Formats: sequence, structure tokens, C-alpha cells
Amino acid sequence: MKALSISAAFLAIFLISCKKTSAPDPDQKPLVKKDSAELVQYGKYLVTITGCNDCHTPKRMGSKGPELIEELLLSGYQGKNAVPEFDLERAKSGFAQMSPDMTAAAGPWGISFAANLTPDETGIGSWTFEQFKTAITEGKYKGMQNGRPLLPPMPWFNFTEIKDEDLQAIFAYLKSIKPVENVVPAPKQFEK
Ligand code: HEC
Repeated sequence: MKALSISAAFLAIFLISCKKTSAPDPDQKPLVKKDSAELVQYGKYLVTITGCNDCHTPKRMGSKGPELIEELLLSGYQGKNAVPEFDLERAKSGFAQMSPDMTAAAGPWGISFAANLTPDETGIGSWTFEQFKTAITEGKYKGMQNGRPLLPPMPWFNFTEIKDEDLQAIFAYLKSIKPVENVVPAPKQFEK
């Protein structure tokens, strides 16, 4: 009987200590919760503070200057419009220029157009996470290993060290926004 109550006491202590260690520790909380609306929210936050909209979202002039066109969020250069008029002679000699809404740029590399990052087929709709990671961290077109190098001003080299969990959040957010059908033109290169 004595032995039984001692082992019961041990069991109780064991259970209490188990409970203690499994209690949530605020310091151990992961930065992002996976598979949740929180992941998308965190991705939105990252996309906003890292400035993807600067180049990937078309803008219109508002009373306080350029403002994002929400219905075209992150859909890139609007290819149906004509190529902005750049001073190509100056671009060739080393001056970078941007269209007023910053979705197209000219410089010594030619003329480049910001990509459509919405989940439409003409954007990243069919992209896998691995493709996205290769595009962002290695600067390769469409995230293909044999893809051409991404041109300026896409600042992909800022993201070579990005954590997978952050990139996953960005990807989840981009996959959650409104798909916009928009075929972005291929870059134009200067004749050598
Ligand atoms: C300073 C302007 C600029 C900023 C800021 C920028 N981009 Fe880009 N991005 C571009 C341009 C221009 C291209 C097209 C480059 C090309 O065609 O080679 C591009 C291309 C891409 C591509 C490749 C698309 C494809 O079809 O291969 C991805 C993915 C991308 N950007 C994601 C992002 C994300 C995510 C952010 C924010 C973290 C971001 N970009 C910030 C200008 C920018």
C-alpha cells in the first residue's frame, strides 16, 4: 500500500512537471505562425516595408503625389500602354531613368519592366515556392535555374540571405492577392 502511494506521488509530480515544460513560453514563440491568416498578414507587412510596391504597383497622381492603384496592386508594368519615352542616348551613357510610376526603367542595361507578381497565369499563378526562392535569392528569371539574370532595378541581391520563413510569408501573401491579367513585355536591350 505504501509503495503504491509513493508511486502515485511520483506520478503526480511527473505529470505536474510535464505540464510545466509544455506550457507556452512567450520567448519561444515562433516569429510567424505557419498555415494561417497570420502568415499572409506577415507577408503583407514584409512586402510593404521592403518596398516591392515601389516598382511592382502602378501608380496614379493624387493630391499628395503618386499613390498606389489598389485594383492593380503588384501587377507590374501595364504592357498595354506604350513604352515610356526615355532618353535612350543618356541611358546608354550611364544615366538611369524611371517612368513616373516606377514600373519601367532605362539604363545601360536597356529597358526593364517590373514583373506581374499577382497569382494570375500571367503573373506568378503557376509558380512553386522553389521557383520564387530561386528568382528572389539568385536573381533568375521565372526562378528557372537556366533563366536569364534579372535586370536592374530589381534588388534581388538584397534578399540572398532572406530566411525561408520570411520568403514563405511573402509568397503566401502574393498568392492571396487579387489576380490581375497583365502580360509584362520582355526587356529591351541596346544593340551592341
Ligand atoms: C527598384 C524596383 C524594384 C523593387 C523595389 C522590387 N522589384 Fe522585383 N522586379 C523589378 C523589375 C524591373 C523586374 C523585372 C526584371 C527583369 O525583367 O529582368 C523585377 C522582377 C521581379 C521578379 C521576377 C519575375 C520573373 O518573371 O522572373 C520577382 C519574383 C520580383 N521582382 C519580386 C519582387 C519582390 C517580392 C519585391 C519586394 C521584396 C521586389 N520584387 C522589389 C523591380 C523591382
